[in-house]
Amino acid sequence: MSDHILSRDDGHVRILQIHRPDKKNALTRAMYTALSEGLEDASTNASVRVVILKGEAGVFTAGNDLMDFMQDPPSIGAEPMPPVERFMRALMACTKPVIASVDGLAIGIGTTLLLHCDLVYCSENARFKTPFVDLALAPEFGSSQLLPGRVGRALAGELLLLGTEWDYQRAVEKNLVTAHIPAQDLDARVLNLAQTLAAKAPAAVRQAKALMAMEQEPLLDRIVREGEAFTALLRSPEFQEAATAFMERRAPDFSKFNA
Ligand code: COA
Repeated sequence: MSDHILSRDDGHVRILQIHRPDKKNALTRAMYTALSEGLEDASTNASVRVVILKGEAGVFTAGNDLMDFMQDPPSIGAEPMPPVERFMRALMACTKPVIASVDGLAIGIGTTLLLHCDLVYCSENARFKTPFVDLALAPEFGSSQLLPGRVGRALAGELLLLGTEWDYQRAVEKNLVTAHIPAQDLDARVLNLAQTLAAKAPAAVRQAKALMAMEQEPLLDRIVREGEAFTALLRSPEFQEAATAFMERRAPDFSKFNA
C-alpha cells in the first residue's frame, strides 16, 4: 500500500483514504495501484461489504499528478495496463457498493470517478471541476457519456467544455451527487450509512448494485435479467431470514451470510 493511500476496515466497511495533503491529494501511479489493490480485494473479500472512498478534510483529490502525466503519460487501452486504468476498471468492476465522501476539491479524475460510485456525499466545501479541455485533453473513462446522462447534455458542457467549477449546491441540485452532509458530520454520517448498507442482505445488495451499474439495455431484456436475480434470491437463505424476521417481528440478522 502506498504511504499516500490509507486503508482500514471498520467492521464490514473498507475505508480507502487518499492522503497526500501537501500535493492536494494529486494521484500518482503508486496511489492508483494501492487504490486498485484495495478495491480488487474488496470485490473478493467476504468480510468487506461496502467501500468508502474519501480524501482529506478540504480536499478529495486535485486529480492526476500532472508531473506524472508529463514524465510518463499513460497509454489508455494499451498493455501493460496503466495504473490509472487498472484503478478505474477496479472501481467499475467492484462487486461491493462504493460510497464516495467528498470534502473539498474534486478535480479531473476526482470528479470522473464519482460517476462510477454508487452513492456520493459531499460537504459544503466540495468543488467539482473537469478542466480537461483547458488542459488540452479530452474527457475520460466514460464521462462524456455518463455526465450528460446524469446532469443533461447542456449542463455537462459547463463541466466538460467550459471547465466551470461547480459548488456543492449546484452538484446536489443537478444530481451530480447524492446529497449534501455538513462537513462536521460527513465522516460519521457516511460511515453510518455504510454500516447500514453493510448490515443488509449481502447477495441482494450485490445484485441491486450490479443491475444499476450495468449498461443500458432494452427494458424487456432488463426485466428478464432482474427476474432471474429475483427468482434466485427468493430461494436464498437471506430471504428466508428476512421473511422469518418479519413474521417473528424482529430485525433480520444477515451477519452470518457471506458478502
Ligand atoms: N498534480 C501535481 N501536483 C499538484 C496537483 C496536480 N494535479 N495539484 C496540486 N498540486 C501541487 C502543487 O504543485 C503544489 O505543490 P508545491 O507546494 O510543491 O508547489 C501543491 O500541490 C499545492 O498546490 P497549490 O496550487 O499551491 O494550491 P492551491 O490551493 O493554490 O490550488 C489547486 C489548488 C488544486 C486548485 C491547484 O493546485 C490546481 O489547479 N491543480 C491542478 C489541478 C488539475 O488541473 N488537475 C487535473 C489533472 S487532469
